[in-house]
Amino acid sequence: MRIVSIVGAIILTVVWIAVGVAAGPGDAAQGKEIFAKSCGTCHGNTGKGDGPAGAALNPKPKDLTDKAYVSKLDDTYLTNIIGKGGAAVGKSALMPPFNGPLKEQDIKNVIAYIRSLAK
Ligand code: HEC
Repeated sequence: MRIVSIVGAIILTVVWIAVGVAAGPGDAAQGKEIFAKSCGTCHGNTGKGDGPAGAALNPKPKDLTDKAYVSKLDDTYLTNIIGKGGAAVGKSALMPPFNGPLKEQDIKNVIAYIRSLAK
């Protein structure tokens, strides 16, 4: 009985840690690196929408440092547009989907970075 409850406690702890990691809060510092690597060409590394490729896009990416604008975008919407791409949420298909290259935690980190830009 005792062994069973100890093993049970260990399994519970492992599951709890695994869930905790998967659902961890976004890390803006890590999100910044991802943003520079995967998003900056269009969005600009600081999210202003002034990346080298962004200028040629129509519509252009919006200024993600605009707090009044970005605060209206909730996490579900951001997770969807980043993961599934613009077309999936009725926006421009020029915004590519990143599910695959970016894991769930990467997307959380990138959202934390976007939120940190809009001050
Ligand atoms: C090939 C260019 C390109 C790349 C790369 C790109 N985006 Fe975009 N993104 C766009 C465009 C264009 C839009 C505007 C879509 C619209 O307004 O219809 C957009 C829109 C967005 C929006 C929605 C803002 C809004 O106005 O609703 C977010 C958030 C976003 N991108 C995040 C990202 C993130 C995070 C990455 C990197 C993981 C990324 N984008 C990479 C082109 C790009």
